[in-house]
Amino acid sequence: MEMEKEHRSSHPRLVLVALPFQGHINPMLQLGSILHSKGFSITVLHTAFNSPIPSNYPEFGFVSIPDNLSEQLISADDLLPFISLLNLNCGVPFQECLAKMVQKQEVENEPSIACIVYDECMYFCDAVAKYVKLPSIVLRTTSASTYLSRNAILQLKAEGVLTSQGSTSQDLVPGLHPLRFKDLPVSKIGTPEIFLQFITNIYKTRTSSAIIWNTNDVLEQPSLQEIQKQCQVGIFPVGPLHEVAPASSSLIKEDNSCITWLEKQKQNTVLYVSLGSVASVDKKELGEMAWGLANSKQPFLWVIRPGSVDDQEWKKLSTEGFVEAVGENGCIVKWAPQKEVLAHGAVGGFWTHCGWNSTLESISKGVPMICKPCFGDQRVNARHVSQVWRIGIQLENMCERGEVERAIKRLMVDKEGKEMRQRAKNLKERIQLDIREGGSSYNYLNKLIELIMSF
Ligand code: UDX
Repeated sequence: MEMEKEHRSSHPRLVLVALPFQGHINPMLQLGSILHSKGFSITVLHTAFNSPIPSNYPEFGFVSIPDNLSEQLISADDLLPFISLLNLNCGVPFQECLAKMVQKQEVENEPSIACIVYDECMYFCDAVAKYVKLPSIVLRTTSASTYLSRNAILQLKAEGVLTSQGSTSQDLVPGLHPLRFKDLPVSKIGTPEIFLQFITNIYKTRTSSAIIWNTNDVLEQPSLQEIQKQCQVGIFPVGPLHEVAPASSSLIKEDNSCITWLEKQKQNTVLYVSLGSVASVDKKELGEMAWGLANSKQPFLWVIRPGSVDDQEWKKLSTEGFVEAVGENGCIVKWAPQKEVLAHGAVGGFWTHCGWNSTLESISKGVPMICKPCFGDQRVNARHVSQVWRIGIQLENMCERGEVERAIKRLMVDKEGKEMRQRAKNLKERIQLDIREGGSSYNYLNKLIELIMSF
């Protein structure tokens, strides 16, 4: 799955529709890059909200669609109602736009549209594709285990085993080893009906012809096999997508000064700390996290995304002497070039919220993790990092500074951490083989291209 250019002019156009959040835009545009390198023309239909930056992908066409959504910061609490609104608002304008594109291709002899590839959360696309009589393919951007655990929630609720608010039980969920009931990605936000509706909407079998998955056999073969048994259409686990598509699709400007700072640090000594594009740190946790980092004396690179911490609390930390205590040992930025950071030899660990992209990016660079999941699928991913692949430590519940300091020492200094780093490096090598000729992701990509060409 190398990024060699294989322009075959007979290849048609693909229309991509991403959910407009960083963790979903990235894998969709990476998939676009891979398919473009195989000769397809790519057109991205996108909302005005969180619009991608076209100049990062000069080879793609971008078409903005009115979405009637105001530009605002969406927190984890607003996510499900927002996705529901997005699906309500976007159907008609997307349909009109696609109908025009189909008409234009006939008149102007442009490459014909082979199919629409849409993020599972943009489920309105299924009806739109049907209306304009085009095949469609779903892209799933979370793990295969997340799919199985969300389906288990539906079943456990139907059986009355799980209440609407989920469970805090440490017991293992039957059939979902190593997940405990408390790890299930139940949303505690909004009404239970909104969450159940969300799962039903993203997983309902509709008319799509296939499912592309940003995961692979090395990481999740048993779950993928289980899903394929239940699924009527073909599953194509072609991930990790970022490994073959280098361009950035950051919505926030990356601060490259942190790479200069990393250059001055010793091999494997820096802990990279980032909680992705949506999660935030609550007031109490911020102080514990900051002082745990400072007291560990381990160099760290910390991404404090605007809006992810309380400004007053952050200022308070400065007045308490946090900045002086850290000195040259810490580098704080608003947004980092994460893939480059994780690939840097100085980075020896990643404190992550375990969003699926961050998890994949860390694994494929051989970096072990401290997992502090915040919501949803992150708990499932964290459990796999610590218990299945055994390349990380999970911080449970609210953490205090002593616990943070100990976890950092375990990962960055102790023998236990060195063993995790070795296992992470082994996993990285297996993934690198998997995306090369003969590997399963490579083979699935070829099969996917054959399928699209057969439409
Ligand atoms: C969301 C959900 O929260 C997550 O649980 C789900 O798995 C995917 O969608 P997000 O929280 O943003 O994603 O996390 P993640 O999946 O890790 O994606 C974040 C992306 O932003 C990564 O690709 C990462 O490389 C990038 N990033 C993050 C940067 O480029 N710079 C940063 O400083 C931080």
